[in-house]
Amino acid sequence: KGSKLVGCGSAIPKLSLSNDYLSKIVDTNDEWISVRTGIRNRRVLSDGETITSLSVESSQKALEMANLKPKDIDLVLLCTSTPDDLFGSAPQIQRELGCTKALAFDITAACSGFVLGLVTATRYIKGGGFQNVLVVGADALSRYVDWTDRGTCILFGDGAGAVVLQAASDDQDGLLGFDFHSDGHGQKHLHALVGNMDQKEKSDGVSSNGSAFLPSRAVPSCLQMNGKEVFRFAVRCVPQAVEAALEEAGLSGHDLDWLLLHQANQRILDAVAERLQIPSERVISNLANYGNTSAASIPLALDEAVRSGKVKPGDVLATAGFGAGLTWGSAIIKW
Ligand code: ACO
Repeated sequence: KGSKLVGCGSAIPKLSLSNDYLSKIVDTNDEWISVRTGIRNRRVLSDGETITSLSVESSQKALEMANLKPKDIDLVLLCTSTPDDLFGSAPQIQRELGCTKALAFDITAACSGFVLGLVTATRYIKGGGFQNVLVVGADALSRYVDWTDRGTCILFGDGAGAVVLQAASDDQDGLLGFDFHSDGHGQKHLHALVGNMDQKEKSDGVSSNGSAFLPSRAVPSCLQMNGKEVFRFAVRCVPQAVEAALEEAGLSGHDLDWLLLHQANQRILDAVAERLQIPSERVISNLANYGNTSAASIPLALDEAVRSGKVKPGDVLATAGFGAGLTWGSAIIKW
């Protein structure tokens, strides 16, 4: 049993922040940001926009392209590290869409989340009992960025993208091969840790309540990153994962129509493409407009490339996600 991609969609927040705008907040400039990263603008949530609202909008477009009704969906997977609800936002997407029959849950794997979600969806379909699966990649790192840290705040943006996978015959299978890894040793290079409320606040709480023990409340901290280490990790590990996924698919780089990497930094995209000997005209990039949108970046770029006619039916793409965890992996897909 196989699974094929039958629809995609995306949604971005209304508010756009340019490099020039950021140079009013931190000591930076358009030239530094565009030369080092390729990013010129990013979108951030405002005016009541949420992960759920962007996810719903992108999913409705994907369902429309797939010619499916919400009740045809059996499973909703939301790939995100920044849900609206700590307990998971997938059920709210399911509710808003009206996917009354669907099981819904979140997958957390930072910028690798969407590719992992794709593979998870195909496992459910292959296992039987699931016909149509909606996979959403959505993140709002603007909520966790330190807007006084010029080393990180210039990189990230918010967005959402969605695809629908459908059960298909083996010869129509759209997932040709994959390869995934995690290494918790690398957490020190990129994280947004959940700490405890500081001791003073806690003891104030205790004193106002007598001597009763008061458990600490969790307080999330801002994203912290060692950019150079993350850069080295991506350029070393991503080509290896793509090569392993290609081997599993019985393909080589020459068989690829497109390289669609997590949109983190144009210099990472260029370096990985060079190592894989894939010419720049076959590399999909929309970094300039959106920056790094974490789990949303691959489905967002895929949707734009499909709707603009760049990616055509039957095209083979190497996708790869990489980021916090550390996690990384590649999936070779047929559109
Ligand atoms: N504007 C101007 N100057 C800056 C800025 C800025 N926005 N940021 C840093 N600088 C300065 C630094 O202070 C430093 O100055 P100094 O030499 O006087 O000390 C100088 O520029 C060089 O800084 P570096 O951090 O060494 O710059 P680098 O060339 O490594 O580029 C960057 C930084 C763009 C972050 C790069 O390391 C990178 O892209 N790394 C990968 C990050 C990434 O992709 N992360 C996402 C992973 S996905 C996920 O899971 C979230």
